[in-house]
Amino acid sequence: FTQDRYQVSRKSFAAVTDSDVSQFEKTIGSKYVVTDSEELLTHNVDFLKAVRGNSKVVLKPGSTEELSQIMKYCYEKNLAVCPQGGNTGLVGGSVPVFDEIVISLNRMNKIHSIDEMTGIAVADSGVILENLEKSANEHGLVVPLDLGAKASCHIGGNVSTNAGGLRVIRYGSLHGSVLGVESVLANGTVLDLMSNFKKDNTGYHLKHMFIGSEGTLGIISKLAILCPPAPRAFHVAFVGLPSFDAVLQTYLSAKRQLGEILSSCEMMDKDALAAAIQHFGLKAPIDDYPFYMLLETSGSNADHDQEKFNSFLENGMEAGHIVDGTITGDPGKMQEIWKLRELVPVALIEDGYCFKYDISLPLRQFYEIVPVMQERCGSLAHRVCGYGHLGDSNLHLNISCSEFTPEIYKRIEPYVFEYTSKLKGSVSAEHGIGFLKTKYLSYTKADNAIDMMKEVKNLMDPKGILNPYKVLPLN
Ligand code: FAD
Ligand code: MLT
Ligand code: ZN
Repeated sequence: FTQDRYQVSRKSFAAVTDSDVSQFEKTIGSKYVVTDSEELLTHNVDFLKAVRGNSKVVLKPGSTEELSQIMKYCYEKNLAVCPQGGNTGLVGGSVPVFDEIVISLNRMNKIHSIDEMTGIAVADSGVILENLEKSANEHGLVVPLDLGAKASCHIGGNVSTNAGGLRVIRYGSLHGSVLGVESVLANGTVLDLMSNFKKDNTGYHLKHMFIGSEGTLGIISKLAILCPPAPRAFHVAFVGLPSFDAVLQTYLSAKRQLGEILSSCEMMDKDALAAAIQHFGLKAPIDDYPFYMLLETSGSNADHDQEKFNSFLENGMEAGHIVDGTITGDPGKMQEIWKLRELVPVALIEDGYCFKYDISLPLRQFYEIVPVMQERCGSLAHRVCGYGHLGDSNLHLNISCSEFTPEIYKRIEPYVFEYTSKLKGSVSAEHGIGFLKTKYLSYTKADNAIDMMKEVKNLMDPKGILNPYKVLPLN
């Protein structure tokens, strides 16, 4: 199915033999060499159930040294591998396409240190984001990254995808927060780019090659990330708005009036919210409106923050941009409100099949594509909706239907990418290119930039064994 739809042929890598499996068992222990078909399936299929590989073996190294030995062996034998974190990726990058060996980082899950003074956390790549967040919280810190998949995704997976999420508006991208990485290269070499400093201008900034390269240049084994102090006070508001213009005005006011305490600025339209409500039995805290925004502040003084937040809301209501809203600082209630946003992507998958687009668009044209696609898809779609990280110009355009059909697919692609390209947007704002988007890379990246990416890939992985068929165009 995958291979037919995307017209990709297996490259001439070796196939795993019994003797390879025995060698892996010697290297990491037989318990950690998975060949059981049921367990294999969970590693062969992605979260969206859009890509299904046919790997015969999953390896679970327990240390950088074991990972390095595995890669050295695979390199010598010309065996292709697919690094896998929490397998929550949304672009089919985390599962094999054919029979690539899955290298699961699940067992490399130690938090080495968290320093309250410097805010630096050093962790293995397989640490689950939520676990790192809990430990950071115990040290009075927060991880500068939060996303709906936090209970399963790994910090190493986050760094490999340069994940964005809900806090980018406040803490910036991982290219800024990740201080260093340790990676295992295609031939097994361990490249130590760990650092304890924000400032280090000693030549080329090699760590950035691993941030967002989706396992195609090396496997991240360990990393150092700068964690900011945990804010003492959080407030969340959920507001209803009459138009997208009102959404933009509210965003501008939030930046101006909430300034340094604004920590999230999310939007969703009525159809996106309806999906979460329908599939998860949630209750909206306000009446129905065409648009909703979820705004979060986090700061050091609850009274001061609440006063600011209240006056921002009052101003928005007076101006007629905000029609209705609720604000809370109660942890339970804030969590309930966050669920309304965080469960939208999962709810849309529950509709049946969901075409997901994660695009950067100029703010003024941010939402225009949603009605355009509603028109193009007509009754073939169950829901065409938009939500996302407004504060980062990142729209999630989702089109759900009962099942995948070539008819609706042709109405959507490549149209969405052509549209994005015309506006000089990005065809992948935060999810990456993975397997599903390789043929659309050129809609955002110039040809000579793609050529340079290929040269870098050839230099670092001359046999192309690291996550083949991903990121770079297939032809
Ligand atoms: P995987 O899915 O296992 O892998 C992703 C890619 O990274 C693959 O190409 C894989 O080969 C590679 N990889 C994984 N680990 C390593 C490693 N140690 N070394 C080298 N390569 C590696 N993404 C966002 O950006 N923002 C969001 O707000 C967001 N919300 C989400 C909400 C939900 C409900 C879901 C299901 C997904 C969401 N995602 C979001 C997408 C996904 O969670 C992120 O891309 C996440 O960073 C993937 O982490 P993972 O550990 O699951 O990696
Ligand atoms: C989100 O912001 O919820 C995620 O990026 C997931 C998605 O859009 O599907
Ligand atoms: Zn997102």
